[in-house]
Amino acid sequence: MDHLKDLINQAQSDFSLCKSLSDLDHAKAKFIGKSGAITDAMRQLSSIPKEEKPKVGAEINSIKQAIEALLAVRKDEIQSEAMESQLKSELIDVTLPGTKQSTGSLHPISITLQRVETLFRSIGFDIATGPEIEDDYHNFTALNIPESHPARAMHDTFYIGHHVLRTHTSPVQVRYMKTNQPPLKIISPGRVYRVDSDATHSPMFHQVEGLWIDEKASFANLKGLLQDFLQSFFEDDNLTIRFRPSFFPFTEPSAEIDMSWNGGWLEIGGCGMVHPEVLKQVDINYDKFQGFAFGLGVERLAMLRFGINDLRPFFNNDLRFLKQFIR
Ligand code: FA5
Repeated sequence: MDHLKDLINQAQSDFSLCKSLSDLDHAKAKFIGKSGAITDAMRQLSSIPKEEKPKVGAEINSIKQAIEALLAVRKDEIQSEAMESQLKSELIDVTLPGTKQSTGSLHPISITLQRVETLFRSIGFDIATGPEIEDDYHNFTALNIPESHPARAMHDTFYIGHHVLRTHTSPVQVRYMKTNQPPLKIISPGRVYRVDSDATHSPMFHQVEGLWIDEKASFANLKGLLQDFLQSFFEDDNLTIRFRPSFFPFTEPSAEIDMSWNGGWLEIGGCGMVHPEVLKQVDINYDKFQGFAFGLGVERLAMLRFGINDLRPFFNNDLRFLKQFIR
């Protein structure tokens, strides 16, 4: 039985070499597994004299218990070593500088649109929107634009079957007047599309439509409103505008809006008195109501406000350009 006592020392040294719970499981098998030394010794009990059996049996049991105790101790040690090394590897140094979260900024066109909306809201205008994929009726027919008008040509407009990418924000006038009765005062900002591309023209650009219908809204009111708006927008009380006679099928009379700039004049949009044909399309009594509409190019407003002479950088997604507008 002496060799059995050595098992305790052997187990202690084997267990101490184990680095993981699975190592420990293997080491345990050598002593108290199915074919381990202790199990073997139990089996051999049958071959020793009967009177010695209780004593030897008790001895084997106490050795087994001692080995089990060693096993439990080593198991605890391995578990706490693992926990300690995990804690070490996950250690957070709270004195290190944090990772900076970069905050985005608004695109210069969004900044411009917000400014336009704020100014018009402050004088009682509502904001209306309409679809960018528009039907032929709202984009052209309801606006009194004849079949022969160049805007209807394939080479000027993006067609999608019987629909078009709207070529201006004016169809929102029609949609709004169909569901709202005068008096009404709205602006409608949004994206529009034309087959057009150079330093001051982009295939996708933004317009702000304006519409004011009541019993008395006049051409003089239109001019005063636009001049007040542009003076506020550009923070320049000396800014003046002039109306240049023009033609839009949906307004009569019609004008291009020019504003004074660096000693000259710059066109920033079109406008006019809403044509009776358009009021007829939306069932508004044109003997009783009248009003005006205008459409401003938003990129043009942004270029003038930020001093940029090419509108293409607005859409090239070059961060060196866009970061200059962080507020
Ligand atoms: C119109 O689109 C009319 N719907 C405006 C209007 C509304 C008139 C209500 C009367 C009543 P026009 O095609 O001129 O008009 O465009 C208006 C403005 O959009 C232009 O003055 C210009 O500033 C801008 N614009 C036109 N085409 C482009 C383009 N390709 N890229 C950038 N801006 C453009």
